Amino acid sequence: MDDLEAVAREISACELCDLHIKRTLAVPGGGNRNAKIMVVGEAPGKFEDLKGKPFVGMSGRFLDKYLEQAGIKREDVFITNAVKCRPPNNRKPTSHEITTCRPYLIRQLNLVKPALILALGTSAASSMNLEYKHLSEIRGKVISTVLDGTNVSVFATFHPSFPMRFPSKRTTFLNDLKRAGELAKNTTM
Ligand code: URA
Repeated sequence: MDDLEAVAREISACELCDLHIKRTLAVPGGGNRNAKIMVVGEAPGKFEDLKGKPFVGMSGRFLDKYLEQAGIKREDVFITNAVKCRPPNNRKPTSHEITTCRPYLIRQLNLVKPALILALGTSAASSMNLEYKHLSEIRGKVISTVLDGTNVSVFATFHPSFPMRFPSKRTTFLNDLKRAGELAKNTTM
């Protein structure tokens, strides 16, 4: 039987791609193991790499504030990333890194069994195998897909760093989070 601690231990010792070479700590993710929402970000940044925890830097504080405004408590969700180790200089993870790390995400999904996956940004959406040319095609929609034989509902929105940089996007981001909260509440697992 798989369990979240075993997944986290394997992630912490993982050397499947070159990101392990420069990482300080891998960031398995964590939170409520009975979460209705699994939040999936892109990859750890500087502070996440130092602490081994997801979304503890600036974009994490921004995310926390918007989750709270949307009525979603951080302690109620499970938060992880498409890629569990920090890419050097915070570059975007490559599709090879996303694909290599994906089995860990799928194991976490199969263990938490969230009603909804909240995919933050393009790397998270790609790790869910969503097909799109531009995030705007899928943002704000619930997409049902099958990941490794498991039916999942994915709701994609911006990565928090985008509305953080572009204040005009903040209302859309907040409305997306509110909608995700409502959808998760009304979905039986
Ligand atoms: N950005 C992410 O996508 N994930 C984190 O954990 C932190 C910043």
